[in-house]
Amino acid sequence: MTRPESTTASPGSSSGTSGTTGVPWRHASAASSPSTPATPTSTGSRPAARPTSSSPNSPPAPQRAEPAADPFLDRATVRGLYATPSRLTSRTAALRNARVRGTPAEEVIAELARRQNPHGLIADIGCGRGTTTLALARALPTCPVAAVDSSAPLLAQARSRTRGHRVQVVAGDFHALPLRTRSAALAVAAFCLYHSATPAAALSELRRCLRPGGVLIAATKSTTSYRELDQLIAASGLDPEAASRPSLYRTVHSGNLDQLVHAALTVRYIRHDEHVFRFDDLDQVAAYLATSPKYHLPSELLGHPEALTRALKNRLPNRPITTTSTVTYVIGVRDE
Ligand SMILES: C[S@@+](CC[C@H](N)C(=O)[O-])C[C@H]1O[C@@H](n2cnc3c(N)ncnc32)[C@H](O)[C@@H]1O
Repeated sequence: MTRPESTTASPGSSSGTSGTTGVPWRHASAASSPSTPATPTSTGSRPAARPTSSSPNSPPAPQRAEPAADPFLDRATVRGLYATPSRLTSRTAALRNARVRGTPAEEVIAELARRQNPHGLIADIGCGRGTTTLALARALPTCPVAAVDSSAPLLAQARSRTRGHRVQVVAGDFHALPLRTRSAALAVAAFCLYHSATPAAALSELRRCLRPGGVLIAATKSTTSYRELDQLIAASGLDPEAASRPSLYRTVHSGNLDQLVHAALTVRYIRHDEHVFRFDDLDQVAAYLATSPKYHLPSELLGHPEALTRALKNRLPNRPITTTSTVTYVIGVRDE
């Protein structure tokens, strides 16, 4: 099979079916504009500091970073999180290195997709760096794949990683997808819908893009995922409230994904996989923890695994740390 080069199309640059991949992009006027990557703040993930009040005679008060109430839903913070691929790359690598039980999600999703035997467009929504996109393209080489994400830098990496496959990447928001109505045979929304404050609206938009008989594979994790790491941060005293900070999976999690999909589609399949991670020592766990905006840590520790390792070692005995996560997959079908 000839595999055309992957190309980038913005919703504004293509309103028909792409000649190279057969992806039916939605007309520009109906699609969201590509996102502009945010400039990270000094913390790498926190919103800009808010000035504190001061009297005319007092010296300027030091500015304190105000963390967002829920950093995983705050739009500016989320843009900052995905403004470059590096944080996601470090985070994924730290988890991959520590995983002792559980199949990588991209392998599960590609196998579930292959079993659906789709004929036509596959849409990987919130594709990030393209890990799942690549697995889908390999598993179903005859299907064109549209990879959509709101982060231009992550899309650039997805494009380069899927070069040589029948993949086209495009900037777009999953609340207003740049895909035509009833165009996709299969859609994937893996580990992204939890960044929506209105996931039901995002799922309704995904339904719009599926053709009758089209299938959605959605994936998320449990709210209790990695809680041993929250407890570790709390025990260190670096953020005593760490265990009660909002979970990344608060809006879309293992306990409500089927209900959310059910509101838009007919649920056909639910699967919960237990993953176990064993970090050998504080150095290894800090490589993961430093990538999280969840904790209220001093800015010099966020995004700085070596500094975070030192701070943890000053407060806790160095030891292996085991943590778990439930990964949930739900398949929904558009009946008509
Ligand atoms: C944790 S990554 C998951 C990437 C990929 N699906 C995977 O499983 O490896 C979350 C992705 O969702 C994207 N995202 C967040 N909000 C979005 C939105 N409103 N529309 C489209 N993509 C969004 C981010 O840019 C990021 O690439």
